[in-house]
Amino acid sequence: MKVGVPTEIKPDEYRVALTPAGVRELTEHGHEVLMQAGAGEGSAITDAEYEAQGARVLPDAAAVFGEAEMVLGVKEPQPPEVAMLRPDHLLFTYLHLAPAPALTRGLCESGATCVAYETVEDGRGRLPLLAPMSEVAGKIATQAGAFMLEKPLGGRGVLLGGVPGVAAANVMVIGGGVVGFNAASIAIGMEADVFVFDRNVDRLRELDVAFAGRASTVYSSVLAVEEMLPRVDLVIGAVLVHGARAPYVIKRDQLSMMKRNAVLVDVSIDQGGCFETSRPTTHSDPTYEVDGITHYCVANMPGAVPITSTYALTNATLPYVLALADLGLEGALVRDPGLRPGVNVAGGKVTYAPVAEGTGFEFTPLDQALEGLVASR
Ligand SMILES: NC(=O)c1ccc[n+]([C@@H]2O[C@H](COP(=O)([O-])OP(=O)(O)OC[C@H]3O[C@@H](n4cnc5c(N)ncnc54)[C@H](O)[C@@H]3O)[C@@H](O)[C@H]2O)c1
Repeated sequence: MKVGVPTEIKPDEYRVALTPAGVRELTEHGHEVLMQAGAGEGSAITDAEYEAQGARVLPDAAAVFGEAEMVLGVKEPQPPEVAMLRPDHLLFTYLHLAPAPALTRGLCESGATCVAYETVEDGRGRLPLLAPMSEVAGKIATQAGAFMLEKPLGGRGVLLGGVPGVAAANVMVIGGGVVGFNAASIAIGMEADVFVFDRNVDRLRELDVAFAGRASTVYSSVLAVEEMLPRVDLVIGAVLVHGARAPYVIKRDQLSMMKRNAVLVDVSIDQGGCFETSRPTTHSDPTYEVDGITHYCVANMPGAVPITSTYALTNATLPYVLALADLGLEGALVRDPGLRPGVNVAGGKVTYAPVAEGTGFEFTPLDQALEGLVASR
């Protein structure tokens, strides 16, 4: 199979979907890899390093999309990339379609088969291709929040860990999954007082064991959230309902319960945001204020540390890339049923129910959409 890797063009995105190690694995399996010139630059990987492992370097995205059968990405395709997708393309990247009806329409109209990293599941229903970036984003969330609490940046002017004789800051993490665990771990390391909220009691049990008394776990009822808000300096929003638009865990009228210049970090912004007042921001302009509360809502947080993130992401995606290249989509779906929920769009139809729900598009069961695809070939 011809596997193409274009340069990421989302603002402030420096990751790349394949490393030289991935090129080597694919070429050893008999596939051809087409890298866009400069695709690895943001992650400190040169074209020559890709070529040394057998990749062919093409001058621009049009050449990559033109020749490739499978296109690998990191972030969701931007409009000029959607315009280059064809019905015979297999696109494998993060998509986050539930809050994005315009992109969903574009992908359906392209006819391409689109597999989203973030909805691929493992044998236990976990999200193996979201997890590495959630680990990175969780750690960044606390770092960024601590920084934004500094007075010159518009924060309250408190140090997360306090000092002898002065109390530590209170950090509230809503959603104790992969992002939440990592955000809380860093906050504990910075010696803040940490409270992790979740609605899954089994998850709270696991966290309680993992934190060994160094953080409190709280069942996330509306009342419990409201009781905590007046005490917190930093809130990290990290909830997820697989593939669906994020639920609001803090509404606008609840901001008035918080201390002035407290900080909200909405990691769930890529699924539409879990605070009512959130809107996506970028690394170059990461924050804005609503009702005296700083909001940090960067939708591609791991993009800030591309050298870490590129390797963490590709370690996880490579086995799936190899399966898709070796077996084709249908063969890979048979070998690993966890790839099935990854297929969000096929044959012009939305094939993943939470995306259909979030966007208002009609849902078509995957097998039906794939039958249509085969028939049209
Ligand atoms: N902004 C970024 O750059 C970036 C990077 C990586 C991940 N993310 C996003 O971060 C979010 C969290 O990802 P994750 O991997 O930690 O997911 P996860 O599935 O591991 O964890 C989500 C947790 O939220 C909990 N939850 C769901 N609804 C809740 C509610 N109403 N109240 C409290 N808890 C609730 C779940 O029980 C679960 O424990 C996702 O939206 C993901 O896409 C964003």
